[in-house]
Order: sequence, then structure tokens, then C-alpha cells
Amino acid sequence: MTVAAAALDVVGLTRCFGSRMAVRDVGFALERGEKLAIIGPNGAGKTTLLSMLAGVLVPTSGAINRAVERPCGWVPQQQAVYSKLSVAENLRLFARLERLADPDAAVARMLAQTGLEDRAQEQVGRLSGGNQQRVNVAIGLLADPAVLLLDEPTASLDPRQRARLWELISALAGEGRCVLYSTHAVTEAERYADRVLVLGDGEQLFLGTPTELEEVVAGDLAPSAIAPPGPSDGPAGDFETAFVQFLRARGH
Ligand SMILES: Nc1ncnc2c1ncn2[C@@H]1O[C@H](COP(=O)(O)OP(=O)(O)O)[C@@H](O)[C@H]1O
Ligand SMILES: [Mg+2]
Repeated sequence: MTVAAAALDVVGLTRCFGSRMAVRDVGFALERGEKLAIIGPNGAGKTTLLSMLAGVLVPTSGAINRAVERPCGWVPQQQAVYSKLSVAENLRLFARLERLADPDAAVARMLAQTGLEDRAQEQVGRLSGGNQQRVNVAIGLLADPAVLLLDEPTASLDPRQRARLWELISALAGEGRCVLYSTHAVTEAERYADRVLVLGDGEQLFLGTPTELEEVVAGDLAPSAIAPPGPSDGPAGDFETAFVQFLRARGH
């Protein structure tokens, strides 16, 4: 892919905290509508990478090039919403803070995009975890970003809420947005991403499609390392075990 064709082009992105390199020389290019999952264990550098792309953390070195010169939408793990205010009041407040030209139009658009119209007047604190996460996504969509970044968006959700959020995220990508999300649930990366970036201690260990990752992971696996399947082991569980092996083989 040429740089001109990429909606987002990241080159040699690095961030140090003192002597610690939290993200080391990460690079990838995404086309419009592509979904990239960033996976890796705790402390791998996922939040640091997304924070740099969101513009809330300054890289130590490297470049972030965007085809559309608009800020990326950012859905951090802990969104600073006001739980006593309604959904619509929160969205209006954030729209004003972002100095959007027409806050009411932006609120209406966000409610429609995230399917929250019938919850607009409810207090955010009383919503289900799934709907609270939709409010967070709505705030990330305020400025109609071409690139949306989500940090572990499904971490606190139950399986049904997760499935609904993935539907929403896929629809947003279907509109031509690049969507980047972090997760430590390997199976979610596999199922919902077009491509996967694996981080281990800040280092980019893999970049490719879920199928390619499966091949690399399977190639690593010594037959003796696979435990005999138990009654609760589905194919997903097997892949997770294999992925842990993949990380271990690379010293993580
Ligand atoms: N503000 C900070 N100051 C110092 N070290 C940090 C800071 N933020 C993150 N780190 C370190 O950078 C590494 C990557 O952290 P993080 O990006 O939060 O990982 P992840 O999101 O994958 O769990 C960790 O070792 C973490 O302790
Ligand atoms: Mg994190």
C-alpha cells in the first residue's frame, strides 16, 4: 500500500517513560474502513500506543500521518462522563467543550449512530454497562472522526453486550472509518478485526490478518504443548492457549 492510499500511516512510533520503552518502533498503514485489533498482555503498550494516536500523549519519536486532517475519535477505558446527567445532556456538554458549530445536530447524529435515541433522557449512571459504553463511543464520534480509537471497549461487558457493541463498531467501520481497538481477549481480535497487531513489552511482534496469525501461532506449536482437549475447550480456548505459547516463544 502506498502512503497516499492509507487513511492512517504510522511510522516508527516510539514512546519512552524514563528509561523504559513502553512502545518501540511500531508501524502500520490502514485503509478506510479497516478494523485493527491491538492485542497483547497487560503492560504490552496498548494504551500508550492508542494514546499517542489519540494525540493525548506525545511520541518520543516516529510519525502519525492521516489522510484526513481531523483529530482521531478517542474512547478511553475510563470516560469522564457525568453519571447524574442524562445521555443527551452529557453529549451536549461534550459537543460544547469540543466547540462544535452545531452541538444539537451533533447530539442527534450521535444518538442515531449509537442507537441511543430512546435512552436520551435517562441518567447515564442508571444505564447498563453496554449502554454506558455506547455513550462513551458516542463521545468519541463527536467530531465525526475518520479514525476511531477504543481502549479495551468490551472489557467490562457481558457476552450479549459485547456482541451488540461489536455490531456497532463494525457498522462504524462499514461507514468508511478506520477503527483501532485494543483487547487482551485474543478471540475478539480474531473474530472482529481485519488485521491484528500483537504487542509484547512494547515491541511489534506480529502484523497481519487473523488467519495469518493463526498460521504463525499454529506453526509455533509443538504437538506436545497442546493439552488434550477437555469438555469445555472450544476452538477459541485452543487458540488462546496457542497464543500464549506464541508470546512465550518470543520471550514475553
Ligand atoms: N505515565 C506512565 N509513566 C510511566 N510508565 C508508564 C506510564 N504509562 C504506561 N507506563 C508503562 O508503559 C508500559 C505499557 O503500559 P500500557 O500502555 O498501559 O500497557 P497496556 O495498555 O498494554 O496494558 C507499562 O510498563 C507501564 O507501566
Ligand atoms: Mg491498557
